[in-house]
Amino acid sequence: INLNVSATGGNASSPLTYGLMFEDINHSGDGGIYAELIQNRAFQGSLEYPSTLTPWVSIGDAILTLQNTSVPLSKSLPTSINVASNSTNGTIGLLNPGWWGIDVKPQKYTGSFWALGSYKGKFTVKLQSDLTDEVFASLDIPSSATPEKWTEHKFELEPRIAAPNSNNTFVLEFDSKAGSLNFNLISLFPPTYNNRPNGNRPDLMEALKDLGGSFYRIPGGNNIEGDAYHHPWLWNETIGPLTERPGRPGTWGYQNTDGLGLVEYLNWCTDISVTPILAVWSGMYLGNEVDHILTASELEPWVQYALDELEFILGPSHSTHGALRAQLGHPEPWELKYVEIGNEDDLYDNGAETYSAYRFSMFYEAISASYPDLILISSTGDYTAVGGSNTSNPSATDYHTYSRPDYFVSQFGHFDNASREYKSLIGEYACVQGNVYNQVVGVDWDAPKLPWNPWVGSVSEAIFSLGAERNGDAIIGMSYAPGFQNLNSYEWTPNLIAFTADPSQTIKSTSHHVIELLSNNRYNATVPVTTDSDYGPAYWVAGVSEPGHYTFKAAIYNSTSTVPFSISFEGLSEGVKGTLSVLNAPDGLSSNTLENGVVSDVVRKTVTTLAAGSGGVFQFELDNYDVAVLTT
Ligand code: AHR
Repeated sequence: INLNVSATGGNASSPLTYGLMFEDINHSGDGGIYAELIQNRAFQGSLEYPSTLTPWVSIGDAILTLQNTSVPLSKSLPTSINVASNSTNGTIGLLNPGWWGIDVKPQKYTGSFWALGSYKGKFTVKLQSDLTDEVFASLDIPSSATPEKWTEHKFELEPRIAAPNSNNTFVLEFDSKAGSLNFNLISLFPPTYNNRPNGNRPDLMEALKDLGGSFYRIPGGNNIEGDAYHHPWLWNETIGPLTERPGRPGTWGYQNTDGLGLVEYLNWCTDISVTPILAVWSGMYLGNEVDHILTASELEPWVQYALDELEFILGPSHSTHGALRAQLGHPEPWELKYVEIGNEDDLYDNGAETYSAYRFSMFYEAISASYPDLILISSTGDYTAVGGSNTSNPSATDYHTYSRPDYFVSQFGHFDNASREYKSLIGEYACVQGNVYNQVVGVDWDAPKLPWNPWVGSVSEAIFSLGAERNGDAIIGMSYAPGFQNLNSYEWTPNLIAFTADPSQTIKSTSHHVIELLSNNRYNATVPVTTDSDYGPAYWVAGVSEPGHYTFKAAIYNSTSTVPFSISFEGLSEGVKGTLSVLNAPDGLSSNTLENGVVSDVVRKTVTTLAAGSGGVFQFELDNYDVAVLTT
């Protein structure tokens, strides 16, 4: 393939080209990146997921029950655990196995619990093995519990050695003479990313940071919408002290603690230097029923609710909600430029109709009147037709695509004729199923999804991404979804990063490797490429960041032989050096997995220094399923 790359004349690239979409699915938040180690720490419940004792276990002859005491810890956390004993001889208590294990290392763990009852003795907190009962750390804490009012007990545990595995538990014990005590908000954090209190797991944040993303779409995804129980994500219930956060029934089959809330999301953006794309709920519950869409008058308070949230984020500290932000330790507004109105609001027919008829415009008009500089993104619409636009939703749009390898490759040109006026966010994309023999078809939602990302799927996503990069002036950016999967409890496969309680078992998927390569090799604008070849089996894009510094990206799909490239870059002469990075895997079906507790990473990266030959031409060969980046 002979390619001549020009120095100028292409499309400006979006500064946000790659990013991340995050919602609490697959225990990606609770039991995931949110570093809290105690599962069901505050017995939060809802109509959909009533409060439960799971996974707490009694110690000694303790009897554990849930109680709504006459003095609750708070209005938001009314239910506590009562630990009682019939005997007055011995030790009783309760044990928590964490989120399918607890990682124990010689580091500081910061904990606290609230107690109610009459007890003058001591509590003992421990981190111990679930298999051998070996104690890695133990501490006695004098009780300050009284029957009149809840008292917080704070502590630190520092194991001297690392546990051999994550089969560990947290234990809270006391003398059975106490008779009966109530506990709530029993919490334990390891060191967190950037040492944020109430923060995130460092290994998962690092895996995210490696992606080199520029934006972060929060809080979802379907999880913002709530389901038949009509409980959307409520920003004001996710802020402030943990005692004031009731939690909510998440959309993905479990109660959310909301410990990872709006402020934590925004701090997360600060910590890894990404731009938030904030989603606000737009009046559609999931549940496939007509009455799950709000009427215009029902929606009015929700428009105000979104404005209040924006005032909390952006308003001056003398405004009502800006003052609340300041009171929570953030006098300065956060930076926010993008707001998405809803999520996949065309999921149902009446969803699409009502979104176009009034739901989108109610939010659009109210938000743009108060915040004219915000870029508002519609959750429906496809601006990829020639001169495409959508007059009923005059804004940027969020385009989602889940599909199969052949389909993704066929979509290389999807954005070639897209509207430049109304830009597209590719807020969710992933190859979720294998090819259907000899047919280019989309996803079949009734059929199973792939358990792991196969390399061929990641290559096909790369080709789709190169197509989007070629149209950098039509897109805001793209984010693979979902981001995370707790391998002990999940609803969706495949995902970008899979993990267990043990950080040594964090798996970057093959798609993660591809995004890491593409995202960390950005350029300011594409540049035209002339060639004697058509696209397929090779697909490419070229860009320039500053004169002489080119980035050329290519991926090969379904080639029966190696593909030779001869590329000349305008202005580069013989001897100029380039770096060629190539990703591949043993075969198209290879996946990164966890097998017998060990991470297998099949992706191989080779980095070669090339020198331009006569006439400044770079020559190299790529194999089938290679994803490559050449920089000069
Ligand atoms: O990413 C998983 C889900 O797929 C998202 O929650 C939803 O927006 C989409 O349908």
